[in-house]
Amino acid sequence: MILSIDQGTTGTTAFVFDADGRLCGRSYSEFPQYYPRPGWVEHDAEEIWQVTLKVCAAALQRAGIAATDLRAVGITNQRETTVLWDRKTGLPVHRAIVWQCRRSADICAGLKEAGAESMVRASTGLLLDAYFSASKLHWIFRNEPELHRRARAGQLCFGTVDSWLIWRLTGGQAHLTDHTNASRTLLYNLDRRQWDDDLLELFDCPRSILPEIRPSAGVFAQTSADSFLGAEVPIAGVAGDQQAALFGQGCILPGSLKNTYGTGCFMLASAGQRRPLVPEGLLTTIACDHSGQPQYAIEGSVFNGGAAVQWLRDDMGVIQQAAETEQIAQAIPDTRGVYLVPAFSGLGAPHWDAAARGSVFGLTRGAGRAELVRATLESIAYQCHELASLMAQALGVELQCLRVDGGASANNFLMQFQADISRLRVERPRQIESTAVGAALLAGIGAGIWGSEQLPASLQDIEQDFLPQMGELQRRGLLDGWRQAVAACRSYRP
Ligand code: G3P
Repeated sequence: MILSIDQGTTGTTAFVFDADGRLCGRSYSEFPQYYPRPGWVEHDAEEIWQVTLKVCAAALQRAGIAATDLRAVGITNQRETTVLWDRKTGLPVHRAIVWQCRRSADICAGLKEAGAESMVRASTGLLLDAYFSASKLHWIFRNEPELHRRARAGQLCFGTVDSWLIWRLTGGQAHLTDHTNASRTLLYNLDRRQWDDDLLELFDCPRSILPEIRPSAGVFAQTSADSFLGAEVPIAGVAGDQQAALFGQGCILPGSLKNTYGTGCFMLASAGQRRPLVPEGLLTTIACDHSGQPQYAIEGSVFNGGAAVQWLRDDMGVIQQAAETEQIAQAIPDTRGVYLVPAFSGLGAPHWDAAARGSVFGLTRGAGRAELVRATLESIAYQCHELASLMAQALGVELQCLRVDGGASANNFLMQFQADISRLRVERPRQIESTAVGAALLAGIGAGIWGSEQLPASLQDIEQDFLPQMGELQRRGLLDGWRQAVAACRSYRP
């Protein structure tokens, strides 16, 4: 039995898989989000740990096993979110700054103005954007000089959420991360595959606070019985959630592509063992290195995907459950020209516009709840379409097929619209929690349960595919409206 922990932006899910890849138990719980100012997003790392422990216990109970029956633990996590804690007490010294948080946008703008972007892009494959960890860490140091002093004195540990969970699961014995997570920090050199001194200097970050970097599959450490449900189990697989999903979807061959519809949407294509040339707007990142060789991936990130549906539910009160949106959207023929651009935390790839704000366009008196709901779902597909077009350019091929996963991939309207607007065959696996599947596979390989050539294939079975049906004229018209809406959204500067 393998426990796979998926620590996401809005909640943690724990899954128990058996050696044939069958799901035996599962538990999910949300945890509080903090929005202290417009554009700021925080988590309490202690709450993340508590909720994680709770869902692990509940998933094991549902599977009818004890933690001592586990052969391995896998961890996959929201990436970039920045946690800083005291090395002695193990307590967080600052709220975790979430990947969506825009507070460090000015820091990035300043570094760009100073001409640092080309060096950063060459070293990291990323951009100078508030999305990535180092800008958040720098913000903390700039605004809390005492924490900077303590960091320099070797008293603090930095980590993305994987590091934080490893630290807690091992009772503070191990300060580790994997290459996929490290490659999202802006402190990691993509060619040398290690922390980069020039970047550490740029962000004023002492080396002593950084975790040691390990391959994604392999034994990281043992959990401590005192901290983890009375059991000592190897933590044997760790990867950022999007890279875990790419692996879980079986997208290993160069050019294979997946899109995860979570809080944000993340499209990744495997790029093989050589660092690819990537067009502006997309990122280069590290993929899971299960074979021991470096693997690269190309990535495009949309900041607000499922988050836009949550906004409809939690802030607008337009729906009660996300699943309702499928029927509501299908019940009308179109949005009557309404477009929503969900730039609630700026726009990610390919626009990278931190100042953009969410906007609705094209309202007429006849437009109501259904149009807004449908426009919200369509906005997710339009944003992913922009990524797919750039991916095709980056890979130099015409894309045929998109593997999908994540919560919102269960929405049939959205999947059909994606197939239509992107003119791609959309393939949905039976198990849409590919992120957790990936972490379980890595942990199984890392613990020696499976060889990388003998993974349980059932985990990647296709449940349904969606074929493009929309006429080309209609498609072009819709895309033209979307482009106008994005341009109008970006020109609004309050
Ligand atoms: O880069 C951020 C990403 O890892 C968050 O994923 O699934 O929590 O939206 P998710």
